[in-house]
Amino acid sequence: MRKKIVLILAAGKGTRMKSQTPKVLHTLLGKPIISRLVESIIALNPQKIIVVVGHEAEIVKKALENYDVETVVQEPQLGTAHALMTARKQLEEEGEGDLLIVSGDVPLVPIDELGFFYKMFSESSDIASLVSINLENPYGYGRVLKDFEGRLRKVVEEKDATPAQKTTKEVNSGIYFMKIPEIFEYLDKITTKNEQGEYYLPDLFSLIYEKNKKVNSFKGSIPERYLGINSQFELSRAEEWLRVSVIGKLLSEGVTIKMPDTVWIEPEVSIRSGAIINPFTKICGETVIETGCEVMSFSTIIDSKIDTGTIIREYSLIEKTSVGKNCKIGPYCRTREGTITGNNVKLGNFVETKKAIIGDGSKANHLSYLGDVKIGSKTNVGAGTITCNYDGKNKLETQIGDNVFIGSDTQLVAPVKVGNGAYIGAGTTITKDVPEGSLAISRVNQKNIEGWVEKKKKREG
Ligand code: UD1
Ligand code: CA
Repeated sequence: MRKKIVLILAAGKGTRMKSQTPKVLHTLLGKPIISRLVESIIALNPQKIIVVVGHEAEIVKKALENYDVETVVQEPQLGTAHALMTARKQLEEEGEGDLLIVSGDVPLVPIDELGFFYKMFSESSDIASLVSINLENPYGYGRVLKDFEGRLRKVVEEKDATPAQKTTKEVNSGIYFMKIPEIFEYLDKITTKNEQGEYYLPDLFSLIYEKNKKVNSFKGSIPERYLGINSQFELSRAEEWLRVSVIGKLLSEGVTIKMPDTVWIEPEVSIRSGAIINPFTKICGETVIETGCEVMSFSTIIDSKIDTGTIIREYSLIEKTSVGKNCKIGPYCRTREGTITGNNVKLGNFVETKKAIIGDGSKANHLSYLGDVKIGSKTNVGAGTITCNYDGKNKLETQIGDNVFIGSDTQLVAPVKVGNGAYIGAGTTITKDVPEGSLAISRVNQKNIEGWVEKKKKREG
């Protein structure tokens, strides 16, 4: 078996994005363009992936940290063939192999078709091949010129093309297959004698053609998916394509999605059939939503697990949270990282939770902050309850048992424990542990002064 090696070219500046962020780090439905591409390339099972970085090299390298890829830095960037020259040493170490070269900005490339071309190329005697596509408007692309037998003979860039050559609608997609080490003798012959004064990678094709004709091309069947993302407009179009395909798949699997054109669901999300997703919702990251759940409008769910039968009501923000079965969350609820609820839990409007472990059947229906807290089962947290978990320096924990009743407007100054079955009177500030089964109350006794209003009026004349 010959080795499969993939080279991703991502050193360019991406000028047309008009952005401070390197082009390949703009996100496409929640993940950087380059990460989406690398993840899809991994499906081809290559022995090695090398990414050529240059512009903002350090930031791009950092974004690739979690992938099994090598990087090489191309500085300065003298053209696409120069990018290949920069990686030459690493490629030569691999001995014999089939090299796939792709630009870093084609995250939607149809990977199955690419895999098929890869196999055909591998089994052929060609030294190099490219994927061409037909475009109604080929402006800006390298035109693919063929000989009388229909074999690729040369690629000519827009800026170097004659008016006659410019009428060609078949263009170079910028995806190549090459045999190593055979390719290197031709690479040495590439010059910068062209309009842009760059080392053009497509020049390899005419060099090989002239020597032995061992070049070829494959025709990509879905042109728009081979096109790179070069501008904000193209990014938004690619993102829309991916969004529609994610939603289409979920619909086909039995998820109900109302007004799907208003719904944002990222590719890593799993939603089981029988769940209902309402208009204007956003579901992101590694979220899992089980059957029988309903997500109401204007809610956002990020990296969370929502178990069977749970309803996330309007305007809620659920992040890094695990919600149990048959819970009612929201409207206007915000759960933050480390929130874990049991089953049949209710968190109502304007309740914020963080690192909160909440047992089965417990409720906080209105206006609360529950942070760094463990709450048992069937406990009722009254409106306006606050866990005072921060002393200015440290985060401190509150523990509340089962079947506890916490009256409205209670503050629990952590660290503090409330035993099972305890009652806390409304308006209480808890600063000491409350033993099991007891009532805690800390309020100034109420005093009524009869006739006070009448006297006041008289005083004031
Ligand atoms: C290139 C092709 C063109 C093809 C088009 C398809 C050349 C000379 N032309 O043109 O035939 O139709 O792609 O999109 O190759 N890069 C580097 N280092 C460099 C220069 C570029 O890594 O020194 C990377 C870029 O980051 C980009 C890719 O190579 O990902 C393509 O470069 P780009 O400048 O966009 O080439 P095009 O002019 O689009
Ligand atoms: Ca390009």
